[in-house]
Amino acid sequence: MRQQKLGKDRKVSAIGLGCMGMTHAYGKPADRNEMIKLIREAVKLGCNFFDTAECYIAHNEDGTIEYNEDLVGEALEPYRDQVVIATKFGVTHEDRTIVTDARPETIRKSIEGSLKRLRIDHIDLYYLHRIDPKVPVEEVAQVMKELMEEGKITYWGISEADEDSIRRAHAICPITAVQNRYSMMYRDYEDLFPVLKELNISLVAFSPLANGILSQAYSPDSKFDAKDDCRAVMPQYQKEAFDQNKQLFDTIRKIADEKGCTPAQLSLAWMINKEDFIIPIPGTTKMHRLKENLEAGNIELTKEEVERIDHALDTLPMSGLFGRK
Ligand SMILES: NC(=O)c1ccc[n+]([C@@H]2O[C@H](COP(=O)([O-])OP(=O)(O)OC[C@H]3O[C@@H](n4cnc5c(N)ncnc54)[C@H](OP(=O)(O)O)[C@@H]3O)[C@@H](O)[C@H]2O)c1
Repeated sequence: MRQQKLGKDRKVSAIGLGCMGMTHAYGKPADRNEMIKLIREAVKLGCNFFDTAECYIAHNEDGTIEYNEDLVGEALEPYRDQVVIATKFGVTHEDRTIVTDARPETIRKSIEGSLKRLRIDHIDLYYLHRIDPKVPVEEVAQVMKELMEEGKITYWGISEADEDSIRRAHAICPITAVQNRYSMMYRDYEDLFPVLKELNISLVAFSPLANGILSQAYSPDSKFDAKDDCRAVMPQYQKEAFDQNKQLFDTIRKIADEKGCTPAQLSLAWMINKEDFIIPIPGTTKMHRLKENLEAGNIELTKEEVERIDHALDTLPMSGLFGRK
């Protein structure tokens, strides 16, 4: 698979693998052995960039907690030297609400837990999951600097970062990647491209398929369990959204047909062909979709093709989207 830039001097596979949905947010955790097989298959198919977080957990009926990091750690243990493992700190969930805590003492506790669950002695890329309004980002950057000196992390980054926080944090300890929401349905962070280019920071695109809807594999009849699957309440999965997105999705499908690829592949190919520092991390629990998504890493689009897609995105109507304020 083609490679994309990770920060100043590193490269990773053009398509990564987001592991969150295997444990958290998209229904009951998937079968552990199947997921271990899937993650290992990803490595065999040339993917070497894996994403998890301390807060990607599920509560079992017996009161125990299932950690996505633990699954990812077991799956990647035989491949440690071939892969870049990214995880995140600073967030817990209370009833689907995000609670931030990026105090230095909390980070110190978090990293020990993550290293243990991931079965590694250093984290390749460690993200502040959300800016904590109670802790200046400079203070977090200082802790990252110390963790690098101690050999516990190699690179660091921020998720859902704005330009001001990026600049302030980068001045204390250089940032390698910003992990923000980015997809054909959420392009707000294109405003950040100049600063990312200037500072040699990558954009790791989370929810690059707009939580799956851009694959066009779903219909108004698709059912999600309201108890533990966030898609049940996402605007883009509501019945009216399918009408609102019809023209746009038809156009995307037409371009995908012309390129001989699927809509999901076109979504991923569009962003990696737009800029060499964008790395999407689509998530899936299905082997055939893993292959489909990773194959997008080899699709070439010309500048004109990317612009044609941008034009459609700029001009055609679009439904609401989870995460859009
Ligand atoms: N930093 C943050 O705050 C943050 C927030 C959200 C996510 N993330 C990271 O980003 C990763 C990806 O985001 P995401 O999972 O929210 O959204 P996504 O990658 O846009 O979409 C994932 C969903 O789409 C489905 N899907 C994937 N490939 C498909 C295909 N080819 N055809 C049809 N359906 C497909 C998956 O279902 P199946 O499993 O059924 O295939 C899954 O439900 C996460 O795993 C996580 O690591 C980070």
